[in-house]
Amino acid sequence: MSPFSRVLSTFFALIIVLFFLINTTTISTSFFTYTSVFSHFLATFHGKNNHHYSFNDQTDQPNLSLRRSTWRNPFIAFKGINDISPSSVFTKKNISRAISPDIAKCGPVELPPNAITLPYCCPILPSPLKIIDFKEFAKPNAPLRVRKPIHLLDDEYMAKLEKGIAIMKSLPENDPRNNIQQAKVHCVYCNGGYPQKPPFQNLKIDIHRSWLFYPFHRWYIYFFERILGNLIGDPNFAVPYWSWDSIEGMQMPKYFANPNSSLYHHLRDPRHLPPYIVDLNYHVNAESTTQDQQVKYNLAFMYKQMVLADTKEVFMGGVYRHGDQAQPAIGSVELAPHNTVHKWVGRADLPSQEDMGTFYTAARDPIFYPHHSNLDRLWGIWTSLDGGRKDYRDDQDWLDSEFFFYDENLNLVRVNIRDSLDTKKLGYVYEEVELPWLNASPKPSRSKLQRQEKKASLLASSQDPMTTTITKFPLVLDSKVSVVVNRPKKLRSKLEKEREEEVLVMEIVDLHSDKDVKFDVHVDDDEEMLSGPDKAEFVGTFTSVPHGRHKSKTKYLVAISKVLEILEAEEDENIVVTLAPIVGKGLVSIGSIMVEYIPK
Ligand code: C2O
Repeated sequence: MSPFSRVLSTFFALIIVLFFLINTTTISTSFFTYTSVFSHFLATFHGKNNHHYSFNDQTDQPNLSLRRSTWRNPFIAFKGINDISPSSVFTKKNISRAISPDIAKCGPVELPPNAITLPYCCPILPSPLKIIDFKEFAKPNAPLRVRKPIHLLDDEYMAKLEKGIAIMKSLPENDPRNNIQQAKVHCVYCNGGYPQKPPFQNLKIDIHRSWLFYPFHRWYIYFFERILGNLIGDPNFAVPYWSWDSIEGMQMPKYFANPNSSLYHHLRDPRHLPPYIVDLNYHVNAESTTQDQQVKYNLAFMYKQMVLADTKEVFMGGVYRHGDQAQPAIGSVELAPHNTVHKWVGRADLPSQEDMGTFYTAARDPIFYPHHSNLDRLWGIWTSLDGGRKDYRDDQDWLDSEFFFYDENLNLVRVNIRDSLDTKKLGYVYEEVELPWLNASPKPSRSKLQRQEKKASLLASSQDPMTTTITKFPLVLDSKVSVVVNRPKKLRSKLEKEREEEVLVMEIVDLHSDKDVKFDVHVDDDEEMLSGPDKAEFVGTFTSVPHGRHKSKTKYLVAISKVLEILEAEEDENIVVTLAPIVGKGLVSIGSIMVEYIPK
């Protein structure tokens, strides 16, 4: 070696050492840190996600998380990690921005304070780590598994579910098919156990409050169904659904209330046993009403969440890509009845309404699965309304988004959203039942004239600083407040309304995500005498299931085209939006409220 090349190689060796020192933010000598830096470097170089992991020693031990360390993208090594924005990374077109969890870097989840149990939710990984890609589509002529509503099933069928759950509960704790292990899968995807792939590993994945909500839970129930069918020796077993949207299904199914059944769960609200009627707009302080009135409320409520929510952003939740913050926007049915039924089942006297009332424990309760079977069914029904509604299936990033689940043979399977869209290909369908809410269109509370008078006096008084009408944001929602919101377009044509939905977009900032929060939204209502959930003026409710993050941000969208038609307010220049905090006063701030027009 010549002196020159010796100097050169020393120089390069120094550069490499410097590179590693800069890129490891924690001083760690573990091999894992360096191999991951190197493999991420390679991945960045190739401009795509890497699916090979450099280690596989994740177990169920919380202390392993101490070994995790962060690294920085070599190309932006001198910027702080928070300076990395999707736009600074995805400069080239055609690079997938699909979300995929970095399962090898699973870490402790975030829990609400006073969590009654401290689960470490990372699922056990096979060693050596082997992942197979999902390919097991149903054979074209194979019989389909038919998911039916529980109220139409007999004891014999429900005994199969009971048996399957009993076996799951009896399996060793470290068996991925064990019921607690299954619940951990939900916990880890909901409470931030998985980081995004590099260079966004500082962002934790959350499958709620975004376009991942329906497909994630579809896959989750799908694998649960396969495992359960295998355990009871019946591959045609289909997870029944709890049809809380049909009149016969509006109670907790009796099988789940039988203390001698494996479907029974001790952490539930004892007041809500059958024949008590579920309140789809439930909150902890709700007063009970007559059964007939409750049914009426529920049907009108379903109509709003399903029929009026006629664009994908409003119904399914917001766009969520690799590099984006979690929880971009929450969908209508995810808010309610999804969240509300979770909380209706959980114990009101526990800090986070465990088990169903909070995500880290929700799937420990066997009723979770029929609840989500129904939500999965409603996704299908929604896409079929109005002769076919568009979900996100034109978006490659949505289609390519990935999740990981264990199958019945203990294989760890990688799935994507694309493969989940046709349930027949997954081997199952839903037995159709009547949709009693389909024509439950809400009526206005008062006449057009009364409404206009109210609005005029409110608009006049809004000039008066002593009134509750405000225009300053962010606003801490600690008491009822009305906001005058401008409508950029008035009297839209039929065609315009068919093409674009008029949407009320509320930016939610500083949401105390660890607490129970609910506020209702009304349009052109009477602030002193707010309308009930069966009236047109009551346009929706924001309700949270505690996640465990201290503060979070999201968006809440409400479709109002049809409401303005019903209220005969289409020619108005503005609308009066009243926000009424119901639970958790002062625990949420609104950053802005606007009317936007979103293509259908
Ligand atoms: Cu992932 Cu019903 O929750």
